[in-house]
Amino acid sequence: MTPRAPAGAPECGQGPAGRKGRDTRAPGDPGCAGPDSLQGVSTRDTDWEGVRLHVVTGKGGTGKTTVASALALALASGGKRVLLMEVEGRQGIAQVFDSPPLPYEERKIAVGPADNAEPSGDVYALVADPESALLEYLEMFYNLRHAGRALTRFGVMDFATTIAPGLRDVLLTGKATEAVRRKKGGKLVYDAVVMDAPPTGRIGRFLNVTSEVSGLARVGPIRNHADTVQKVIHSPETAVHFVTTLEEMPVQEALDGIAELRDMPGGGIQVGGIMINMVRPLELPRSQLRDVAAGSVDEHELAIGLKAAGLGDSVRLAADLAAELTDEAVAAIGQEEERRRLAEAAQPRYDLPMITDGIDLAGLYRLAAALRDQGAA
Ligand SMILES: Nc1ncnc2c1ncn2[C@@H]1O[C@H](COP(=O)(O)OP(=O)(O)O)[C@@H](O)[C@H]1O
Ligand SMILES: [Mg+2]
Repeated sequence: MTPRAPAGAPECGQGPAGRKGRDTRAPGDPGCAGPDSLQGVSTRDTDWEGVRLHVVTGKGGTGKTTVASALALALASGGKRVLLMEVEGRQGIAQVFDSPPLPYEERKIAVGPADNAEPSGDVYALVADPESALLEYLEMFYNLRHAGRALTRFGVMDFATTIAPGLRDVLLTGKATEAVRRKKGGKLVYDAVVMDAPPTGRIGRFLNVTSEVSGLARVGPIRNHADTVQKVIHSPETAVHFVTTLEEMPVQEALDGIAELRDMPGGGIQVGGIMINMVRPLELPRSQLRDVAAGSVDEHELAIGLKAAGLGDSVRLAADLAAELTDEAVAAIGQEEERRRLAEAAQPRYDLPMITDGIDLAGLYRLAAALRDQGAA
Protein backbone atom coordinates (compact mmCIF):
# COMPACT_ATOMS: atom_id res chain seq x y z
CA MET A 1 0.00 0.00 0.00
CA THR A 2 1.01 3.61 -0.29
CA PRO A 3 1.40 5.80 2.75
CA ARG A 4 -1.90 7.38 3.65
CA ALA A 5 -2.68 10.57 5.41
CA PRO A 6 -3.73 9.91 8.96
CA ALA A 7 -7.44 9.86 9.56
CA GLY A 8 -8.71 12.95 11.24
CA ALA A 9 -5.96 15.14 9.80
CA PRO A 10 -7.11 18.72 9.75
CA GLU A 11 -6.20 19.30 6.13
CA CYS A 12 -8.88 16.90 4.99
CA GLY A 13 -11.48 19.61 4.68
CA GLN A 14 -13.01 19.48 8.14
CA GLY A 15 -10.89 22.34 9.38
CA PRO A 16 -8.63 22.15 12.36
CA ALA A 17 -10.30 20.20 15.09
CA GLY A 18 -8.82 20.54 18.51
CA ARG A 19 -5.50 21.78 17.18
CA LYS A 20 -3.76 25.05 17.32
CA GLY A 21 -4.01 25.30 13.57
CA ARG A 22 -0.35 25.33 12.67
CA ASP A 23 0.47 24.47 9.10
CA THR A 24 1.81 20.97 9.33
CA ARG A 25 1.23 19.62 5.88
CA ALA A 26 2.01 21.03 2.51
CA PRO A 27 -0.89 21.50 0.14
CA GLY A 28 -1.53 18.64 -2.21
CA ASP A 29 -0.56 15.98 0.27
CA PRO A 30 -2.27 12.84 -0.98
CA GLY A 31 -4.69 10.52 0.68
CA CYS A 32 -7.35 12.21 2.80
CA ALA A 33 -10.09 10.10 4.35
CA GLY A 34 -13.39 11.06 2.74
CA PRO A 35 -15.84 13.33 4.53
CA ASP A 36 -18.02 10.34 5.40
CA SER A 37 -15.18 8.40 6.89
CA LEU A 38 -15.81 7.32 10.45
CA GLN A 39 -12.14 6.66 10.99
CA GLY A 40 -10.68 8.78 13.68
CA VAL A 41 -13.95 9.73 15.35
CA SER A 42 -13.16 10.02 19.01
CA THR A 43 -13.38 12.44 21.84
CA ARG A 44 -10.10 14.01 20.77
CA ASP A 45 -9.23 14.41 17.15
CA THR A 46 -5.57 13.60 16.67
CA ASP A 47 -3.44 13.18 13.60
CA TRP A 48 -2.60 9.52 14.23
CA GLU A 49 -5.93 8.10 15.22
CA GLY A 50 -5.93 4.43 14.30
CA VAL A 51 -2.15 4.07 14.57
CA ARG A 52 -1.25 1.61 17.28
CA LEU A 53 2.43 1.00 16.61
CA HIS A 54 4.43 4.23 16.68
CA VAL A 55 8.02 3.66 15.54
CA VAL A 56 10.31 6.56 16.47
CA THR A 57 13.54 6.95 14.53
CA GLY A 58 15.96 9.75 13.66
CA LYS A 59 19.66 10.49 13.60
CA GLY A 60 21.41 9.38 16.79
CA GLY A 61 21.49 12.07 19.44
CA THR A 62 18.57 14.09 18.09
CA GLY A 63 16.34 12.89 20.91
CA LYS A 64 14.74 9.63 19.77
CA THR A 65 14.54 8.16 23.24
CA THR A 66 13.32 11.41 24.74
CA VAL A 67 10.68 12.00 22.07
CA ALA A 68 9.50 8.37 22.10
CA SER A 69 9.05 8.69 25.87
CA ALA A 70 7.17 11.99 25.52
CA LEU A 71 4.95 10.49 22.82
CA ALA A 72 4.14 7.50 25.03
CA LEU A 73 3.15 9.88 27.82
CA ALA A 74 1.10 12.00 25.43
CA LEU A 75 -0.78 8.93 24.22
CA ALA A 76 -1.45 7.73 27.75
CA SER A 77 -4.60 9.69 28.47
CA GLY A 78 -8.21 8.79 28.91
CA GLY A 79 -7.36 5.57 30.71
CA LYS A 80 -5.27 4.29 27.80
CA ARG A 81 -2.45 1.84 28.25
CA VAL A 82 0.70 2.49 26.30
CA LEU A 83 3.80 0.32 26.01
CA LEU A 84 7.09 2.12 25.48
CA MET A 85 9.64 -0.27 24.08
CA GLU A 86 13.40 0.00 23.68
CA VAL A 87 15.23 -2.31 21.29
CA GLU A 88 18.84 -1.28 21.43
CA GLY A 89 19.56 -2.38 24.97
CA ARG A 90 20.95 0.94 26.13
CA GLN A 91 18.60 1.48 29.07
CA GLY A 92 17.83 4.90 27.65
CA ILE A 93 14.22 4.76 28.81
CA ALA A 94 15.23 3.99 32.39
CA GLN A 95 17.57 6.97 32.23
CA VAL A 96 14.93 9.30 30.87
CA PHE A 97 12.44 8.28 33.56
CA ASP A 98 15.15 8.19 36.20
CA SER A 99 14.33 4.59 37.12
CA PRO A 100 16.60 1.59 37.83
CA PRO A 101 17.59 -0.51 34.77
CA LEU A 102 14.58 -2.23 33.22
CA PRO A 103 14.39 -6.01 32.80
CA TYR A 104 12.85 -7.90 29.89
CA GLU A 105 9.46 -7.49 31.44
CA GLU A 106 6.68 -4.99 30.98
CA ARG A 107 6.28 -2.77 33.99
CA LYS A 108 4.52 0.45 34.70
CA ILE A 109 6.89 3.36 34.54
CA ALA A 110 4.71 6.48 34.53
CA VAL A 111 1.19 7.86 34.36
CA GLY A 112 0.08 10.07 31.53
CA PRO A 113 -0.87 13.70 31.98
CA ALA A 114 -4.20 14.38 33.68
CA ASP A 115 -6.34 16.34 31.27
CA ASN A 116 -9.29 18.34 32.65
CA ALA A 117 -12.18 15.92 32.32
CA GLU A 118 -10.19 12.94 31.03
CA PRO A 119 -8.58 10.48 33.40
CA SER A 120 -4.90 9.81 32.78
CA GLY A 121 -3.52 6.59 31.36
CA ASP A 122 -0.51 4.39 32.08
CA VAL A 123 2.85 4.01 30.41
CA TYR A 124 4.51 0.61 30.65
CA ALA A 125 8.10 0.11 29.59
CA LEU A 126 10.02 -2.83 28.17
CA VAL A 127 13.62 -3.30 27.15
CA ALA A 128 13.51 -5.95 24.45
CA ASP A 129 16.59 -7.91 23.51
CA PRO A 130 16.64 -10.53 20.76
CA GLU A 131 17.75 -13.34 23.02
CA SER A 132 14.89 -12.98 25.48
CA ALA A 133 12.50 -12.49 22.59
CA LEU A 134 13.71 -15.76 21.03
CA LEU A 135 13.34 -17.68 24.28
CA GLU A 136 9.85 -16.31 24.69
CA TYR A 137 9.04 -17.14 21.11
CA LEU A 138 10.27 -20.73 21.42
CA GLU A 139 8.28 -21.17 24.57
CA MET A 140 5.14 -19.68 23.12
CA PHE A 141 5.16 -21.69 19.95
CA TYR A 142 6.95 -24.88 20.90
CA ASN A 143 6.99 -25.04 24.65
CA LEU A 144 10.74 -25.09 24.26
CA ARG A 145 12.03 -22.95 27.06
CA HIS A 146 14.62 -25.49 28.14
CA ALA A 147 15.85 -26.01 24.63
CA GLY A 148 16.05 -22.26 24.30
CA ARG A 149 18.13 -22.00 27.45
CA ALA A 150 20.50 -24.66 26.14
CA LEU A 151 20.78 -22.84 22.85
CA THR A 152 21.76 -19.72 24.70
CA ARG A 153 24.28 -21.59 26.78
CA PHE A 154 26.00 -23.00 23.75
CA GLY A 155 26.07 -19.60 22.12
CA VAL A 156 23.77 -20.69 19.33
CA MET A 157 21.88 -17.44 19.69
CA ASP A 158 25.00 -15.43 18.97
CA PHE A 159 25.73 -17.66 16.05
CA ALA A 160 22.23 -17.45 14.62
CA THR A 161 21.97 -13.70 14.94
CA THR A 162 25.45 -13.21 13.53
CA ILE A 163 24.80 -15.18 10.38
CA ALA A 164 21.30 -13.79 10.08
CA PRO A 165 21.07 -10.25 11.38
CA GLY A 166 17.58 -10.19 9.93
CA LEU A 167 16.53 -12.79 12.49
CA ARG A 168 17.60 -10.45 15.25
CA ASP A 169 15.44 -7.70 13.83
CA VAL A 170 12.41 -9.87 13.27
CA LEU A 171 12.55 -11.00 16.89
CA LEU A 172 12.44 -7.38 18.02
CA THR A 173 9.82 -6.14 15.59
CA GLY A 174 7.97 -9.38 16.36
CA LYS A 175 7.87 -8.51 20.04
CA ALA A 176 6.41 -5.09 19.19
CA THR A 177 3.75 -6.50 16.89
CA GLU A 178 2.90 -9.19 19.43
CA ALA A 179 2.29 -6.46 22.03
CA VAL A 180 0.18 -4.52 19.53
CA ARG A 181 -2.04 -7.54 18.84
CA ARG A 182 -2.14 -9.02 22.32
CA LYS A 183 -5.58 -9.51 23.82
CA LYS A 184 -6.81 -10.41 27.24
CA GLY A 185 -10.42 -11.32 27.86
CA GLY A 186 -11.20 -10.38 24.26
CA LYS A 187 -9.82 -6.86 24.73
CA LEU A 188 -6.59 -5.37 23.48
CA VAL A 189 -4.04 -5.12 26.25
CA TYR A 190 -2.35 -1.98 24.88
CA ASP A 191 -3.99 0.93 23.11
CA ALA A 192 -0.65 1.87 21.62
CA VAL A 193 2.95 0.70 21.47
CA VAL A 194 5.74 3.25 21.02
CA MET A 195 9.08 1.89 19.88
CA ASP A 196 12.34 3.74 20.47
CA ALA A 197 13.78 2.32 17.26
CA PRO A 198 17.24 2.11 15.68
CA PRO A 199 18.57 5.29 14.02
CA THR A 200 17.52 6.37 10.55
CA GLY A 201 20.50 4.76 8.85
CA ARG A 202 19.26 1.31 9.89
CA ILE A 203 15.50 1.78 10.06
CA GLY A 204 14.68 0.56 6.55
CA ARG A 205 16.50 -2.70 7.05
CA PHE A 206 15.18 -3.09 10.55
CA LEU A 207 11.58 -2.86 9.38
CA ASN A 208 12.04 -4.76 6.15
CA VAL A 209 11.41 -8.04 7.85
CA THR A 210 10.37 -10.34 5.07
CA SER A 211 13.21 -9.82 2.68
CA GLU A 212 15.71 -10.10 5.52
CA VAL A 213 14.31 -13.38 6.67
CA SER A 214 13.38 -14.87 3.34
CA GLY A 215 16.89 -16.10 2.67
CA LEU A 216 16.72 -17.84 5.99
CA ALA A 217 13.30 -19.44 6.02
CA ARG A 218 11.05 -19.93 3.03
CA VAL A 219 8.39 -21.89 4.85
CA GLY A 220 7.62 -22.86 8.41
CA PRO A 221 6.93 -21.06 11.64
CA ILE A 222 9.69 -18.44 11.37
CA ARG A 223 8.40 -17.55 7.95
CA ASN A 224 4.81 -17.33 9.19
CA HIS A 225 5.92 -15.23 12.11
CA ALA A 226 7.84 -12.91 9.78
CA ASP A 227 4.84 -12.61 7.50
CA THR A 228 2.56 -11.61 10.36
CA VAL A 229 5.07 -9.05 11.58
CA GLN A 230 5.41 -7.68 8.08
CA LYS A 231 1.66 -7.37 7.70
CA VAL A 232 1.34 -5.29 10.87
CA ILE A 233 4.28 -3.06 9.92
CA HIS A 234 2.84 -2.36 6.49
CA SER A 235 -0.66 -1.76 7.79
CA PRO A 236 -2.25 1.61 8.60
CA GLU A 237 -1.82 0.62 12.25
CA THR A 238 1.89 1.41 12.04
CA ALA A 239 3.55 4.79 11.48
CA VAL A 240 7.21 5.74 11.56
CA HIS A 241 7.97 9.14 13.06
CA PHE A 242 11.22 10.98 12.40
CA VAL A 243 12.95 13.00 15.07
CA THR A 244 15.28 15.75 13.89
CA THR A 245 16.83 18.96 15.02
CA LEU A 246 17.01 21.96 12.69
CA GLU A 247 20.50 21.12 11.50
CA GLU A 248 21.59 20.03 8.08
CA MET A 249 22.71 16.45 8.79
CA PRO A 250 19.77 15.28 10.92
CA VAL A 251 17.34 16.90 8.48
CA GLN A 252 19.03 15.16 5.55
CA GLU A 253 18.85 11.82 7.36
CA ALA A 254 15.17 12.33 8.09
CA LEU A 255 14.45 13.18 4.45
CA ASP A 256 16.47 10.19 3.23
CA GLY A 257 14.71 7.92 5.71
CA ILE A 258 11.29 9.13 4.59
CA ALA A 259 12.20 8.53 0.95
CA GLU A 260 13.51 5.07 1.79
CA LEU A 261 10.30 4.05 3.53
CA ARG A 262 8.18 5.37 0.70
CA ASP A 263 10.18 3.38 -1.83
CA MET A 264 10.30 0.23 0.20
CA PRO A 265 9.61 -2.98 -1.69
CA GLY A 266 6.31 -4.46 -0.67
CA GLY A 267 4.43 -1.21 -0.86
CA GLY A 268 5.92 1.26 1.56
CA ILE A 269 5.49 1.80 5.24
CA GLN A 270 3.38 4.65 6.54
CA VAL A 271 5.52 7.68 7.29
CA GLY A 272 4.39 9.45 10.43
CA GLY A 273 5.19 12.89 11.74
CA ILE A 274 8.39 14.88 11.71
CA MET A 275 9.22 15.73 15.31
CA ILE A 276 11.38 18.84 15.27
CA ASN A 277 13.24 18.63 18.54
CA MET A 278 15.15 21.12 20.67
CA VAL A 279 13.54 24.13 19.02
CA ARG A 280 14.70 27.44 20.45
CA PRO A 281 12.43 30.46 20.26
CA LEU A 282 13.50 33.07 17.70
CA GLU A 283 15.08 36.04 19.45
CA LEU A 284 14.23 38.36 16.59
CA PRO A 285 11.09 38.88 14.55
CA ARG A 286 11.24 36.90 11.28
CA SER A 287 10.87 40.10 9.28
CA GLN A 288 14.16 41.43 10.65
CA LEU A 289 16.25 38.29 10.43
CA ARG A 290 17.65 38.81 6.96
CA ASP A 291 18.59 42.43 7.55
CA VAL A 292 20.27 41.65 10.83
CA ALA A 293 22.10 38.66 9.36
CA ALA A 294 23.35 40.91 6.58
CA GLY A 295 24.92 43.13 9.18
CA SER A 296 22.27 45.82 9.41
CA VAL A 297 22.70 46.35 13.13
CA ASP A 298 23.78 49.93 13.60
CA GLU A 299 26.58 49.70 16.14
CA HIS A 300 26.78 53.44 16.52
CA GLU A 301 23.13 53.79 17.37
CA LEU A 302 23.37 50.79 19.71
CA ALA A 303 26.33 52.39 21.50
CA ILE A 304 24.39 55.62 21.99
CA GLY A 305 21.50 53.67 23.45
CA LEU A 306 23.77 51.70 25.76
CA LYS A 307 25.49 54.86 26.88
CA ALA A 308 22.15 56.51 27.60
CA ALA A 309 21.31 53.49 29.72
CA GLY A 310 24.44 54.23 31.71
CA LEU A 311 26.35 51.11 30.63
CA GLY A 312 30.14 51.22 30.87
CA ASP A 313 32.24 50.64 27.76
CA SER A 314 29.32 51.24 25.46
CA VAL A 315 31.30 51.13 22.20
CA ARG A 316 32.82 47.72 22.94
CA LEU A 317 29.55 46.43 24.35
CA ALA A 318 27.72 47.59 21.23
CA ALA A 319 30.22 45.79 19.00
CA ASP A 320 29.85 42.54 20.97
CA LEU A 321 26.10 42.80 21.03
CA ALA A 322 25.92 43.51 17.30
CA ALA A 323 28.15 40.53 16.55
CA GLU A 324 26.02 38.29 18.74
CA LEU A 325 22.80 39.46 17.14
CA THR A 326 24.23 38.91 13.69
CA ASP A 327 25.38 35.37 14.56
CA GLU A 328 22.02 34.62 16.07
CA ALA A 329 20.23 35.85 12.96
CA VAL A 330 22.49 33.81 10.68
CA ALA A 331 21.79 30.70 12.73
CA ALA A 332 18.06 31.40 12.75
CA ILE A 333 18.02 31.79 8.99
CA GLY A 334 19.79 28.45 8.68
CA GLN A 335 17.07 26.89 10.81
CA GLU A 336 14.35 28.46 8.70
CA GLU A 337 16.01 26.94 5.66
CA GLU A 338 16.00 23.49 7.33
CA ARG A 339 12.32 23.98 8.11
CA ARG A 340 11.65 24.66 4.46
CA ARG A 341 13.46 21.49 3.47
CA LEU A 342 11.43 19.48 5.97
CA ALA A 343 8.21 21.00 4.66
CA GLU A 344 8.97 19.48 1.27
CA ALA A 345 8.51 16.02 2.71
CA ALA A 346 4.83 16.98 3.12
CA GLN A 347 4.33 15.18 6.44
CA PRO A 348 2.80 16.65 9.59
CA ARG A 349 5.42 18.46 11.64
CA TYR A 350 5.55 19.08 15.36
CA ASP A 351 7.80 21.42 17.32
CA LEU A 352 9.30 20.26 20.58
CA PRO A 353 10.93 23.00 22.63
CA MET A 354 14.48 22.91 23.89
CA ILE A 355 14.20 22.21 27.61
CA THR A 356 17.04 24.34 28.85
CA ASP A 357 17.40 23.00 32.38
CA GLY A 358 17.77 19.36 31.26
CA ILE A 359 15.22 16.62 30.70
CA ASP A 360 13.54 15.31 33.82
CA LEU A 361 9.98 14.04 34.30
CA ALA A 362 8.64 17.60 34.30
CA GLY A 363 10.46 18.25 31.03
CA LEU A 364 8.99 15.09 29.53
CA TYR A 365 5.48 16.21 30.48
CA ARG A 366 6.17 19.54 28.79
CA LEU A 367 7.19 17.75 25.60
CA ALA A 368 4.14 15.49 25.89
CA ALA A 369 1.91 18.55 26.26
CA ALA A 370 3.51 20.11 23.16
CA LEU A 371 2.74 16.95 21.19
CA ARG A 372 -0.85 16.93 22.40
CA ASP A 373 -1.38 20.64 21.75
CA GLN A 374 -0.26 20.14 18.17
CA GLY A 375 -2.48 17.13 17.63
CA ALA A 376 0.22 14.45 17.49
CA ALA A 377 -1.49 12.53 20.28
N1 LIG B 1 13.76 18.82 23.80
C1 LIG B 1 14.91 18.66 24.44
N2 LIG B 1 15.40 19.66 25.21
C2 LIG B 1 16.58 19.52 25.86
N3 LIG B 1 17.34 18.42 25.80
C3 LIG B 1 16.92 17.38 25.05
C4 LIG B 1 15.70 17.45 24.33
N4 LIG B 1 15.53 16.27 23.68
C5 LIG B 1 16.62 15.51 23.98
N5 LIG B 1 17.45 16.17 24.80
C6 LIG B 1 18.73 15.70 25.34
O1 LIG B 1 19.57 15.34 24.25
C7 LIG B 1 20.33 14.19 24.55
C8 LIG B 1 20.06 13.10 23.51
O2 LIG B 1 18.72 12.68 23.63
P1 LIG B 1 18.27 11.16 23.44
O3 LIG B 1 16.80 11.12 23.59
O4 LIG B 1 19.08 10.27 24.31
O5 LIG B 1 18.69 10.98 21.92
P2 LIG B 1 18.82 9.63 21.05
O6 LIG B 1 17.95 8.61 21.67
O7 LIG B 1 18.37 10.06 19.69
O8 LIG B 1 20.26 9.28 21.05
C9 LIG B 1 19.94 13.78 25.96
O9 LIG B 1 20.86 14.31 26.85
C10 LIG B 1 18.59 14.43 26.16
O10 LIG B 1 18.32 14.71 27.51
MG1 LIG C 1 18.38 6.71 22.38
